[in-house]
Formats: sequence, structure tokens, C-alpha cells
Amino acid sequence: MLVCQCNVISRRDIVSTIQDFLAEDEWQFITPLKVYHSLNKRGRCCGCFPNVVDIIVETTEAWHREKATPEAEVIDFLDKLRAEHERMTQERAQANRERVDARLRKKKLRAA
Ligand code: FES
Repeated sequence: MLVCQCNVISRRDIVSTIQDFLAEDEWQFITPLKVYHSLNKRGRCCGCFPNVVDIIVETTEAWHREKATPEAEVIDFLDKLRAEHERMTQERAQANRERVDARLRKKKLRAA
């Protein structure tokens, strides 16, 4: 299944990359940028990033389930991962609001 249309990256490519990272260090913080960098790609529209974050969480959960990592450690780690995702989502929304506000201010200045 294609996850990133801009770079033609499949779910399988992403999962495989995440598993490689987890094999190196199963507690490292994996981001969409890190995954794309590893694939020699980069975000263009970045519309796929929320789905990539979901795949990171699912793959990380499956990894630790398979390794029988104590559940409390996994839950704590995934909570941190989700919190970071939420923080990034809020920052992106704030940046979009500021961009829209700046455009509106420019339009008003031109109209005046
Ligand atoms: S869909 Fe992935 S960067 Fe645009």
C-alpha cells in the first residue's frame, strides 16, 4: 500500500525502515523525517506524516509485543511518543494559523 504519493513510499518500506531502527536501539525516538532520511527521501507536502506516525506507533508496539518487553515500559514509551506527536500536530496547526493571519494582514494592507 502506498503511504507517500509524493515520494512513492510503500507501507512495507516504512515498516522495514522502522524495524531496522528498532534493531539498532528499540527505545530510540523515530520520526517521519528520520524514516524518510534513511530512505534518501524527504517530506514534500508532508500530508503523509500523520499516517507515518501511526505506522511508527503500530510497528513499535508490535516489536515490543514480539520481544515480550514488560508492558509498563512499552506503555510509558508509547505515551511519550503520542504526546510528542500531539505536540507536533499542535505546533503545525499554530504555524498554519499564523501563516493565514499573515496573509490576511498583507491583503488588508494592500487594500488600504
Ligand atoms: S504524500 Fe508524503 S510528502 Fe507528500
